[in-house]
Amino acid sequence: MFHIGPHRIDPPFLLAPMAGVSEMPFRVLAFEFGAGLATTELISAKGLAHRNKRTEQYLTFNKEIERPYSLQLFGGEETAMANAAALAVEAGAQIIDVNMGCPVKKVTQTGAGSALLCDPKRAASLIVAMRKAVQDTVPITAKIRTGWDEHHINCIEMGKALEDAGCAALAMHARSRAQGYSGKADWSLIGDLKDALKIPVIGNGDVVTAQDAILMQQQTGCDAVMIGRGALGNPWIFRELKEGKKYVPSLLERKNLVLRHLREHIRFHSQLDDTRDDIEQRAVRSFRTHLVWYSRGLKDASFFRERVMHLDTLATVEQALHDFFDTTYVDIRKSLPESDAIDYRQAFG
Ligand SMILES: Cc1cc2nc3c(=O)[nH]c(=O)nc-3n(C[C@H](O)[C@H](O)[C@H](O)COP(=O)(O)O)c2cc1C
Repeated sequence: MFHIGPHRIDPPFLLAPMAGVSEMPFRVLAFEFGAGLATTELISAKGLAHRNKRTEQYLTFNKEIERPYSLQLFGGEETAMANAAALAVEAGAQIIDVNMGCPVKKVTQTGAGSALLCDPKRAASLIVAMRKAVQDTVPITAKIRTGWDEHHINCIEMGKALEDAGCAALAMHARSRAQGYSGKADWSLIGDLKDALKIPVIGNGDVVTAQDAILMQQQTGCDAVMIGRGALGNPWIFRELKEGKKYVPSLLERKNLVLRHLREHIRFHSQLDDTRDDIEQRAVRSFRTHLVWYSRGLKDASFFRERVMHLDTLATVEQALHDFFDTTYVDIRKSLPESDAIDYRQAFG
């Protein structure tokens, strides 16, 4: 358990913001399975002011389940970020997170995302401007990387500047901008950041199993652990962490979960874009990545994936899911990342 401003976050295991993945239906699943928080994907501060359909989609959240609702913004200019923070609160945000880690050129060349790592003062001034715009009614958090590249590892300097600016908690993906998603996350820097700061530090990077999450906490002393790719196709990771013991879902349970996620994904996209005739097809196509993740490690998954790549209606994908999950005889224990009994209460108190 830890706090972000007035919000008690329990358990201290968080779903990472992931563009194209952390949409409302997946965030709701993460919460239901036991995540303490699930932040939206990055939303453009400037885009928020224009409020097109896509932005509406980003701003849709489940008021009953997503508590607190944490929304991530990206931008490089004080005024745009301050305005966006006010709009985010109007839209219901209870925590505003600032993206200071995105390595994508389109984002960094506007001075946003990981470009902010090159200028801790400017990063801090964004936090100050946003706090002022929302009059401290909601906490502002940030998510950084370790630095721009291996020659410019400055997460401690960044962390201190952000803490002094009034940042309520800091998440760090323990890779540099230059590393992208390759190489190994350097957890020792999470430990260094934790030692240097008073605000809660959230560790992130290469947590694939529930056991990894416990290891990260033990090795770094971080207040919470954020899980990205390890939760794709495996929201059960949050259940394992919440309950503190290994959990292996049956094939039937997996199938029912995928069916539910698929239907909710289609409903979500349809509600927000009901003017198009091909909305079901588009929504089904955008669910294919989830289908790949849910079938990861299962017997005959490659045939299943090949089949669903050509399907774009709910009915046909449902049939493919029944055929796959009802006939595969895979030993599911082999298909999920291994994690032995975990005592999360002992780890986090
Ligand atoms: C598909 C994808 C999309 C992502 N989008 C975002 C994003 O919108 N905002 C952000 O701060 N990080 C984003 N990230 C980075 C993750 O939040 C996380 O820091 C990274 O994946 C490392 O954690 P992991 O090893 O647990 O996956 C994204 C990562 C992936 C794989």
